[in-house]
Amino acid sequence: MLNKKLEEALNAQINAEMWSAYLYLSMAAYCHENGNPGMANWFTVQFKEEQDHAQILFNYVVARGGRVLLAPIDAVETAWKSPLAAFENTLEHEQKVTGLINNLYGLATEEKDYATQSMLKWFIDEQVEEEEAAREIIDKLRMIKDNGYGLYMIDKELAARTYTQAAPLATAAE
Ligand code: FEO
Repeated sequence: MLNKKLEEALNAQINAEMWSAYLYLSMAAYCHENGNPGMANWFTVQFKEEQDHAQILFNYVVARGGRVLLAPIDAVETAWKSPLAAFENTLEHEQKVTGLINNLYGLATEEKDYATQSMLKWFIDEQVEEEEAAREIIDKLRMIKDNGYGLYMIDKELAARTYTQAAPLATAAE
């Protein structure tokens, strides 16, 4: 059985992941509007991944006999000054999420909840990838600056990103 403190913290994380999903869907809308369909695809895949993160935590709370309580999702930004600004915001946001996951892990350690620590390990690794992916795109966009051909090429590259269901959900479905 989950203790109340952890149950509340996991519910807060479900909300944070749904907020992240909403943020990236908003960035996808911005990129469509800005004429960057490949970047919009990248953010749409990111949106789906965030929904997966919320679902993993949801399933975990249920599996531990806890109660999932879905809180309202706060509004997100709807415009950025450039695609680069959107990706910089992505990195900044992912760094914040890394902090949230670390705090959750810290709480699970304090509460001697080993199952929660084990479940969170996947998220800890995932955050390293999330930050790295955003950083790589930012580096390229900073190099390209306002070069039209460069922007066209990176948009084409980001159009190739495809969604794969997060491993913990894929395993659960087997
Ligand atoms: Fe769910 Fe992007 O961290």
